[in-house]
Amino acid sequence: MSGWSQLQFELWDSDDPIPRQELLKKVKGCDGLLCVLTEKIDAEVLNAAGPNLKVLSTMSVGFDHLSLGELKKRGIRVGYTPEVLTDAVAELTIALLLATSRRLIEATHEAKTGGWGTWRTLWLCGYELADSTVGIFGLGRIGVAIAERLKPFKVKKFIYTDVAPRPELAAAIQAEYVSMDELARQSDFLAVCCALTPETQGICNKNLFSKMKNTSIFINTSRGGVVNQEDLYEALSTGQIAGAGLDVTVPEPLPTNHPLFTLKNCVILPHIASASYTTRNAMSALAANNLLAGLRGEPMPKELQL
Ligand code: DGY
Repeated sequence: MSGWSQLQFELWDSDDPIPRQELLKKVKGCDGLLCVLTEKIDAEVLNAAGPNLKVLSTMSVGFDHLSLGELKKRGIRVGYTPEVLTDAVAELTIALLLATSRRLIEATHEAKTGGWGTWRTLWLCGYELADSTVGIFGLGRIGVAIAERLKPFKVKKFIYTDVAPRPELAAAIQAEYVSMDELARQSDFLAVCCALTPETQGICNKNLFSKMKNTSIFINTSRGGVVNQEDLYEALSTGQIAGAGLDVTVPEPLPTNHPLFTLKNCVILPHIASASYTTRNAMSALAANNLLAGLRGEPMPKELQL
């Protein structure tokens, strides 16, 4: 390291998030900070840290918990953890999609609680991927990885929408670029894979759900803020759409008395898309290496361009 070969660090050694007041106290005078997505890094934290802070490393691919403008203004470099979690997130998305479309949670509940009577023709019927159209909202690495995994299920067609066509990524999965309205109209399965930004905040709303088929399945493994949850509840409870699988909600954790939990056609997971041992280890190592490189004044393995 230029000028120094040792660093002192303090670790919040708990799986629970650091209390805000504790963070504000401990960050004072630090040169670098490594955080996870439960920490909102805003002007208050950056002011508490003071002018020494040069590097922020988040152990996440998402960065909606960071005030990028405040970081940029202060010349603080930012590292994040894309790519290492793509496989785990895509895999979980497939699991959630199948659990929702084939009603696995309802089915195990019925089997355990005495609802399993004789074999019945239409009991617990769901929707299959074969011959379906899958729509991807926000085509990036994760969207491509999801489509690659879905292809062997004999999906007929992949479509996507984004701020602009992404021909190189789309070519890998032979996906067609369509408008948001067409995505809603055509998709039998609609997977949300976009980042949460001011433009995508609440974009999955009444307007989108009202254009979807009443046999379609909505899946979100990106960020809860992309969805208007009241509108989703309405769409699910009135049969406007067939089902939803959510790994992310607002807030997190979603209170256990939230109306979405009352719906059989809504499968809710507690934000576990990247939760495999391999991926979380890789994310930790990348976040630490980003931090160290930033402190040395070297290029970070994965730096966010502010
Ligand atoms: C991320 O990294 O942003 C995921 O939501 C959690 O791994």
